Amino acid sequence: MTKNDTPKLESKVVDAATIDRKKTKGQWEMDVRAASVGPDVVDIRKFYGQSKMFTYDPGFTSTASCTSAITYIDGGKGELLYRGYPIEQLAEKSDYMETCYLLLYGDLPNKESKQAFISEINSHTMLHEQLSTFYRGFMRSAHPMAIMVGVVGALSAFYHDSTDINDPAQRQLAAHRMIAKMPTIAAYAYRYSLGLPFPQPQNDLSYSENLMQMMFSVPTEDYEINPVIAKAIDRFLILHADHEQNASTSTVRLAGSSGANPFACISSGITSLWGPAHGGANEAVLKMLDEIGDKKNIGKYVDKAKDKSDNFRLMGFGHRVYKNFDPRAQVMRDSAHEILESLGVNDPRMELAMELEQIALKDPYFIEKNLYPNVDFYSGIILSAIGLPTNMFTAMFAIGRTVGWLSHWKEMLVDPDQKIGRPRQLYVGETRRDYTAVNKRGGRKDGASWSRFWSNKR
Ligand code: ACO
Repeated sequence: MTKNDTPKLESKVVDAATIDRKKTKGQWEMDVRAASVGPDVVDIRKFYGQSKMFTYDPGFTSTASCTSAITYIDGGKGELLYRGYPIEQLAEKSDYMETCYLLLYGDLPNKESKQAFISEINSHTMLHEQLSTFYRGFMRSAHPMAIMVGVVGALSAFYHDSTDINDPAQRQLAAHRMIAKMPTIAAYAYRYSLGLPFPQPQNDLSYSENLMQMMFSVPTEDYEINPVIAKAIDRFLILHADHEQNASTSTVRLAGSSGANPFACISSGITSLWGPAHGGANEAVLKMLDEIGDKKNIGKYVDKAKDKSDNFRLMGFGHRVYKNFDPRAQVMRDSAHEILESLGVNDPRMELAMELEQIALKDPYFIEKNLYPNVDFYSGIILSAIGLPTNMFTAMFAIGRTVGWLSHWKEMLVDPDQKIGRPRQLYVGETRRDYTAVNKRGGRKDGASWSRFWSNKR
């Protein structure tokens, strides 16, 4: 299969659904469109025009925002498919470059296409020399994700020949550039924090080997690649490569829907990924395990997580879509065992994580709410074992997810149904009122109202 043969997205009308307004009377019939697998959708695009009502769905819990043919999740079964291939098979048998090709171009490459793709990616691994100096504008203490957001956004100021979203060749170039440069950008963010010189990528190495060498090598010594670590990183990247319409991917689609350039769009995805409810959870899990510290404290933290008056949640637990198990978490747990064993690392946090998992899985609160470990629960233990500091974890996630963001960005751009993303709202604020002169306004104590505004109260 070549890149021009990406399967067409079809959604046939197979049924109709009626929306009935009871008191003020009204009935509207909407098309039901079929999915190839998974839930069909009620096509409500004409609903507002006909009924003058919006639908209300904060957090998109029941709303499909697009048609897509990239990734499928069955949350009940705990199934994740990239272009139809189960994640477990890809994690075991594939490699990250193949997975990138699969997500972007719709099918696994043959031997020649794979080699051509790797050579193409390798030809873009270096950063513009002036971009390397751009890092100096950051504090040494900057969080790597802050640097990633800045540097990836700044690519649009350096690579003017790949910002025209209407030119297919420029779209391709931008996508290949970002996949190639992301390890370099992340590794430099890490090295900058340590004050280490920036090494060049080495294109005779695999994607994950190159990432390791750029992170951990020092100019005064030869760097020997540990194949166990390289394999673990590669698997980590595969497991994070895509996850359909999650928060960061939806952010990329939304940013892209206005016609923003690809570098700006991917930078917006990194921003959204950073939050602890999303990709930032891997960092938050390790911080939580460090805070728990000992098995004897687990009960206290489980109780805190159940207490609604406490903002604390068990990080790495729960998922919007998976209500049975996250298949990536299972692979990640096995991988964590493997890497600790082969590196001879005795990380007490692994024991703590397993114990916490067991206790939470037996607790009625977690059972009732279908809260299971997600991909981030064990990933931090792997990354920590291979020597990465906690604040680099989400940057590693961003490297892996870049290809997913790009695949969705491209799919969105060429979708004939695509419009600028512009949700509606249920307005509950003041109705129209007239302006009053400043000396005629009521006594509002400014300081107090400011702090009330920023408090947790609405
Ligand atoms: N610990 C304790 N309670 C939880 C947790 C948790 N980790 N997750 C959800 N709940 C509870 C909520 O309090 C809520 O209870 P309620 O119905 O009594 O109000 C219920 O479970 C449903 O939670 P929501 O927040 O409504 O579920 P949603 O689908 O919106 O959120 C999310 C999913 C954000 C992943 C949530 O489970 C969470 O915050 N988990 C911890 C952070 C985390 O691990 N994020 C990584 C997700 S995977 C990824 O992005 C790669």
